[in-house]
Amino acid sequence: MNLDALKIGDLVPKLPIVQGGMAVRISTASLAAAVAEEGGIGLIAATGMSVDELKKEIAKARDLTKGIIGINIMFAASQFANLIKAAIEEGIDLIVSGAGFSRDMFSWGKAAGVPIVPIVSTPKLAQLSEKLGAAAVIVEGKEAGGHLGTNESMKDLLPKVKQAVTIPVIAAGGIIDGEAIKEALDLGADGVQMGTRFAASKESNASDEFKKMYLDANPEDVVLIESPVGLPGRSILNPFIKRLFNGDNLKPSSCDNCLKKCSRSFCILKALIRSQEGDTETGLVFSGERVGEIKEILSVRDIFKKLIYELERAESGV
Ligand SMILES: Cc1cc2nc3c(=O)[nH]c(=O)nc-3n(C[C@H](O)[C@H](O)[C@H](O)COP(=O)(O)O)c2cc1C
Repeated sequence: MNLDALKIGDLVPKLPIVQGGMAVRISTASLAAAVAEEGGIGLIAATGMSVDELKKEIAKARDLTKGIIGINIMFAASQFANLIKAAIEEGIDLIVSGAGFSRDMFSWGKAAGVPIVPIVSTPKLAQLSEKLGAAAVIVEGKEAGGHLGTNESMKDLLPKVKQAVTIPVIAAGGIIDGEAIKEALDLGADGVQMGTRFAASKESNASDEFKKMYLDANPEDVVLIESPVGLPGRSILNPFIKRLFNGDNLKPSSCDNCLKKCSRSFCILKALIRSQEGDTETGLVFSGERVGEIKEILSVRDIFKKLIYELERAESGV
């Protein structure tokens, strides 16, 4: 297998595979460290955590691996700046911002020597990110799980973003096997980010019920909802979403102001926490488009073995 190195600032993982940050508490220290141990980049999802909790997760991941550990934080989170600053204080290796970014985060990263990697969904935002000092960008297509910034396919977006910037471009959305990794690399990606496949791993912090929902899902069960954040969100159809589609009143009775802006149609933080903890009836289960192809919950080690096997097979044209 002949893979070009992915370089994010001074960071060079053994494999150009990033585990996407998944909130709330789906990608915590155990998943991120397991991915880093296999030579990829592991991301702890900071959104929905307190500063103390995030610091503990980073320290826990450091105890488990000497590999590359970053955080992912949604720009929409009220604690965006505080969580980034806390991660920098803890000596995090890189910071990924999801669903938007702020200009000042690049100066915080620069001052601390920490690479900043925004997730973008247009060539224009990729260009702006490069100008502001991004070390790389992640281009996320419509196939991805969670909040989406586009309805364009990753395969259409990737070559356009690649042309627009000189920094490394990491492809995300719909990558669940080695063949998809090869396809993305052939389209010019310098690396890939994968979420759904890693959410369905032994080390993922999702509840067994959440993981079972992934295994039971058919392609037609994956739907788009309107998130209170103001973006579409890709999720698995369940009784909670049916109620949302029905127009039932799901407005929260209390609010922690966890988001900078929120439509308050429902509390997304609590809905994500419910599914992570095992209530997949009233919780929100984010998932990518290709979840139906996942047939078993594997350890991260076995996922990597499988990916490499599939990638080598795809490269040899068998
Ligand atoms: C359960 C789940 C939670 C997610 N949470 C976040 C998040 O907190 N922040 C973010 O930027 N992206 C989030 N994502 C997107 C992933 O980081 C990743 O980019 C995406 O899953 C890639 O597409 P794939 O699922 O088809 O591999 C989430 C995805 C899933 C499946």
